[in-house]
Amino acid sequence: MALISRRTVIATGVSVAALGTVGYGLWPRMGGYLDEADRQRQLLADNPGLEDLVRMATLAANSHNTQPWLFRLAEGQVSILPDISRRTAVVDPDDHHLYISLGCAAESLVIAGAALGRSSAVAVSAGDAPQIDISLTTADPDGQELYQAIPLRQSTRSVYDGQPISTADMALLETAAREAGVSVQFFTEAADRDVILDYVIAGNSAQMDDPAWVAELRDWLRFSSTRALATGDGLFGACSGNPVLPEWMGGQMFKLFFTKEAENTKYRDQIRSSAGIAVFVGDRADPQHWIKVGRSFQRFALQATALGIRTAHLNMPIEVASLRPDFARWLGAPDARPDLVIRFGRAPAMPMSLRRPVSAVLA
Ligand SMILES: Cc1cc2nc3c(=O)[nH]c(=O)nc-3n(C[C@H](O)[C@H](O)[C@H](O)COP(=O)(O)O)c2cc1C
Repeated sequence: MALISRRTVIATGVSVAALGTVGYGLWPRMGGYLDEADRQRQLLADNPGLEDLVRMATLAANSHNTQPWLFRLAEGQVSILPDISRRTAVVDPDDHHLYISLGCAAESLVIAGAALGRSSAVAVSAGDAPQIDISLTTADPDGQELYQAIPLRQSTRSVYDGQPISTADMALLETAAREAGVSVQFFTEAADRDVILDYVIAGNSAQMDDPAWVAELRDWLRFSSTRALATGDGLFGACSGNPVLPEWMGGQMFKLFFTKEAENTKYRDQIRSSAGIAVFVGDRADPQHWIKVGRSFQRFALQATALGIRTAHLNMPIEVASLRPDFARWLGAPDARPDLVIRFGRAPAMPMSLRRPVSAVLA
C-alpha cells in the first residue's frame, strides 16, 4: 500500500505547510479525531474483563487497517476468528496478511493479559481457516514493558533520522521476535538495504500498474477525519503524513498525485533513512505459520516501540507473487515464502490510527 507523497505535493508548487494549515487548521483536533484516538488507547484498569483485553488486541497492526477479526468470548477464553467480509482479495488473495493480522491481535491480547495477571495458553486449530483459542488463567502480573507499548505502537510511514540502532537494542529486538517456526533476518548495511529498495520499487511499480490493486487501496483510504471517525477503520491520510481533506477533494488529489514515480521516490527516501530492515520468514506457507509470523512481528514492533524505535511495512516484494521467488533466493531461502518486510529506525510519532468499537468485533 502506498499513499500520496509529500514530495509530490511539493512538486505541484503548493507547500506542505500551506496544505497542512488547510488540512489541520480547519478541523481543530481534526474534528475530534485525535481525542478519539487517545480515548481508544487508554491502558486498562486492574482486573480487566475479556472485552477489555479484546480492546487491547484490536490495537494490533493489521493489513490496510481492515481489522479482519472477530472475537468470541466464553468463560476464561477468547477465540479469534477471521472476518472474511474484511479480506483484501487483490493484495492478499490467499489471506496471508489476514492471518498475520490475527496473529498480531492474539499476541497483544496475550501480552495485555500477562501484564494484568492472566496467563494464556494459545491453541491454533488445523485446516485452511483456523481459529485461535486463548485460554486465560489467573497468574502473577508479568511483562509491563511490552503491554505499555501497545497503545503507543504505530506504523510510522515517515522519513526516519538515518541513525543506526545500538547493538544492545538490536539484540533486544531479535530476542523479542523469537518464535518457533519463524526466522527473522536483519539488514543494516547500506548495500543490502539498496537491494531491498530495488525489490520494493519493482513491487510497487507492478502494483501501481494494476488498476484492481489501486481501486482496492482507494476503497480503504480515509481522506477526511469525518469519514475516518465514522468508519473507525481504513487508512487515514494524516497517519501517513498527508493533509486532511474533505473526502471529495481527497479523491481528486489521489487521482492527480498518486503516481508510480512519486511513490518510488518516497520509498527510496524512507528506506535510505531507516536504520535497518527486518524480513520475517515462516518455516511453512500455511495459515498456522502466518499466525506465528504475526505474533513474532507484533512482539518485535512492541519491543521497538518500548525502545523508542519506529517500524513500518514495505511488503511489496512479498505481495507481488512474481517477485517473491527471486526475493526468497536473495534471502538465501529459495524454498521459503518470505512473509513481512519491515523497516525500523527513529522518528517522531505520527497521528494514531483508529479502531472500531469492541461491540463491532464480537462474534
Ligand atoms: C500483514 C500486514 C501487512 C501490512 N502491509 C502494509 C504495507 O504494505 N504498507 C503499509 O504502509 N502498511 C502495511 N501494514 C500496516 C497496516 O496498514 C497498519 O497496521 C494499519 O493501518 C493500522 O495502523 P497502525 O499499525 O498504525 O496501528 C501491514 C500490516 C500487516 C499486519
